[in-house]
Amino acid sequence: MSMPPMPVRDAVAARRAKRAISTAFISDEETHAMAEAMRLSPSCNNKQPWHVIAVRGAAALERLKGCLPRGNGWAKASPLILAVCSRAEDDCMLSDGRDYHLFDCGLAVGEMMLAATEMGIIAHPIAGYDPLMAKEALSVPEDFILITLVVCGRPGNDSSMLSEKQLLAEGERPARRPSGENLFADAWGAPLFPEVHSEHLSED
Ligand SMILES: Cc1cc2nc3c(=O)[nH]c(=O)nc-3n(C[C@H](O)[C@H](O)[C@H](O)COP(=O)(O)O)c2cc1C
Repeated sequence: MSMPPMPVRDAVAARRAKRAISTAFISDEETHAMAEAMRLSPSCNNKQPWHVIAVRGAAALERLKGCLPRGNGWAKASPLILAVCSRAEDDCMLSDGRDYHLFDCGLAVGEMMLAATEMGIIAHPIAGYDPLMAKEALSVPEDFILITLVVCGRPGNDSSMLSEKQLLAEGERPARRPSGENLFADAWGAPLFPEVHSEHLSED
């Protein structure tokens, strides 16, 4: 029985980078839905610079998990890790230094995280891994940047791998800056919502 679709605003509010994930299987259908969300994502001049490796085979997962530091040990439970790679020349490179490949990868990952959230799957991007080892483990060509590993999994109960800070973040979303600090109206520095903090914006 398929679930009713989740309103986008609810998915935005529900998405969390949780770390207590279970080893439970993620199906081909679910993996496909996540990949499709990336495929439909916008990109500069439709360049689609992302190259994504869905790592789910036992041997490949083991190799990749060997590239994680202790602080990301929680990710070892994951049955599916999406490795996102790109290089500058595959996307817009504007003369004032605006290289869009990492931006476009971020957009694609953002869309994919919402699709995962709708399916009850945690999709947690990380930057903490040995990038050279990880590229080698996945046969990523040398001239590509491995910009993130998105650790996927269903919510789990085992929090034994988590530090105190990570445990705290399981229950409560880490605080955001007050919106007046970085959301401006009309010119830099003038708060867009003087009295309102961003956490409140997603709760109405
Ligand atoms: C680019 C990026 C890198 C991150 N790297 C890590 C990481 O290495 N380890 C980790 O546990 N969380 C990592 N995170 C998750 C963030 O810590 C998390 O998104 C942030 O604390 C906000 O929490 P929330 O996503 O649940 O709202 C990363 C997130 C992003 C977007």
